[in-house]
Amino acid sequence: MILLCRLALLVSLIAANLAWAAHSFENTAIVRTVELGGASVHVVTTYAVKALEPKSSVYTIALSPNEHEKTSWLEVRQKGQQVALSLQPVLLDTANNLYLYRAELPKQLAINETTNLIVETVQTHATYPWPEQAEQGDEQALKYETDLYVLSPYKTSVQRTKIRTLSPRIISYTTPEGIDFTTDNPVTKSGATITYGPYHNIPASSTLEFVQQHQKHITAHYNHDFPCAEIATLKRAAEISHWGANLNIQDEIVLHNAGPTLKGHFSRLQFQSQTFYNRPSPTILNWFTLHLPAGIRNVYYYDLIGNVSTSRLRTAPSVPKTLSGNPNQYSVMEVRPRYPLLGGWNYTFTLGWDAPLADSTSFDSKTGKYIVGVPVMTVIPDAVVDDAEVKIVLPEGATDVEFFPPFPAKNTTISTHVTYLDTVGRPAVTFHYERLTDKHSGIIYVTYKVPFSAHLRKPLAVAAGLIGVFVLSMGWRRVDMRLDTKQKL
Ligand SMILES: *[C@@H]1O[C@H](CO)[C@@H](O)[C@H](O)[C@H]1NC(C)=O
Ligand SMILES: *[C@@H]1O[C@H](CO)[C@@H](O)[C@H](O)[C@H]1NC(C)=O
Ligand SMILES: *[C@@H]1O[C@H](CO)[C@@H](O)[C@H](O)[C@H]1NC(C)=O
Ligand SMILES: *[C@@H]1O[C@H](CO)[C@@H](O)[C@H](O)[C@H]1NC(C)=O
Repeated sequence: MILLCRLALLVSLIAANLAWAAHSFENTAIVRTVELGGASVHVVTTYAVKALEPKSSVYTIALSPNEHEKTSWLEVRQKGQQVALSLQPVLLDTANNLYLYRAELPKQLAINETTNLIVETVQTHATYPWPEQAEQGDEQALKYETDLYVLSPYKTSVQRTKIRTLSPRIISYTTPEGIDFTTDNPVTKSGATITYGPYHNIPASSTLEFVQQHQKHITAHYNHDFPCAEIATLKRAAEISHWGANLNIQDEIVLHNAGPTLKGHFSRLQFQSQTFYNRPSPTILNWFTLHLPAGIRNVYYYDLIGNVSTSRLRTAPSVPKTLSGNPNQYSVMEVRPRYPLLGGWNYTFTLGWDAPLADSTSFDSKTGKYIVGVPVMTVIPDAVVDDAEVKIVLPEGATDVEFFPPFPAKNTTISTHVTYLDTVGRPAVTFHYERLTDKHSGIIYVTYKVPFSAHLRKPLAVAAGLIGVFVLSMGWRRVDMRLDTKQKL
């Protein structure tokens, strides 16, 4: 009962806050630009904001449940600033069935003061192939659906939505009817851009009533000339060895081509002639490029059958953390799956490399701790990683482990990893993520101490192992000799 009352209170508090919030700003203009891609869609919405009340400092953005579901990454900035604004926990406004993201402005606005807020999002699984099946030589067409109006708790003077494609070949798009906020053409197309609006004098729209009366569904159907790569699962293991001054990174990847599935059968001859004339089919994923760290060595790439030898690698020289080298240097690997990946197909492979530990680790003598930085993943542009597991294995005997992921993980687990020649095992931290995009290119920092005894443990274990081998070999020698003598007899 008490719980129920408190819940009711909370909801009404939210309602009251919102009623108040609706008067604190107005939008002099909203421009949403949707950049259509394959597996991911980038949306940038600019809100030109004017404060209507003194000390206005929290701006609310509203997303429909459908948009909230598709949004894998969201960041709010003030125009011209690099630093993102901090966001309060996302609120579900149950009465209006909307998700509310509230951004805190770095400084309160006075009455009539203005600012421009830029909300950048990446949507995943927001497009789908249409038709769902295509023949090998066919083009690839995708559909994207969204809502016509950007919802806002504040009234808006003018609003536009631009939908852009990479190729100007837009097959079709919705022409909305019965628009209340314009007397002109509700939609225009020019080249690779479809523009909805301008729509004028839209009231506060983050209400169920507005959505039911005015919101419209729009669809764009367009040609996309690049394969739609998705990573169904990524399992990254980063293993730190002070003993070998080495950082080993290994990725186990299930790659998926999310384009239309093949109608009819695959013709290798047709595929080869398309490749020969440099007219690769957009429905076939034949190769992709990865930017790997500088200074890597012992790169290996194998799949379920064995080594794959058809890839090209150009390594950049190592950049130790202590030197102020060019941090933008990277090695480039052109990865070719063993077979061309057709729509709907998967390819499972493992890619790994060694790197000098000094390139990603430093020692803080003040705290006596090591700091290691491991990238969450190797980004494939436009690809989405549905399910990622990043495991960082620390040296044996490491203590005082703390970790700082660049963005929160779904969950984090700490375990102990025991391998060859280990005595007590190595502490490991595992991060689980879902739906990573090319914006999630951050670095996980882990700090730890390695006691002096732990540094010694490995040499001692190795020495013990060697002595064991020595004793064993002596034993074998004796056996051998006896056998020899027997044979000689
Ligand atoms: C804000 O602007 C409006 C319209 O331009 C004006 O009427 C009003 O006096 C202004 N308020 C303040 C506090 O400057
Ligand atoms: C794969 O290639 C690596 C290095 O090129 C080699 O050491 C290894 O033996 C190969 N493995 C197989 C199964 O061919
Ligand atoms: C490919 O992987 C996806 C996701 O893991 C799975 O749903 C699908 O069934 C797989 N397709 C094939 C042909 O194995
Ligand atoms: C962590 O999250 C992943 C998916 O994000 C899930 O598969 C896994 O079971 C979770 N692990 C724990 C311990 O909750």
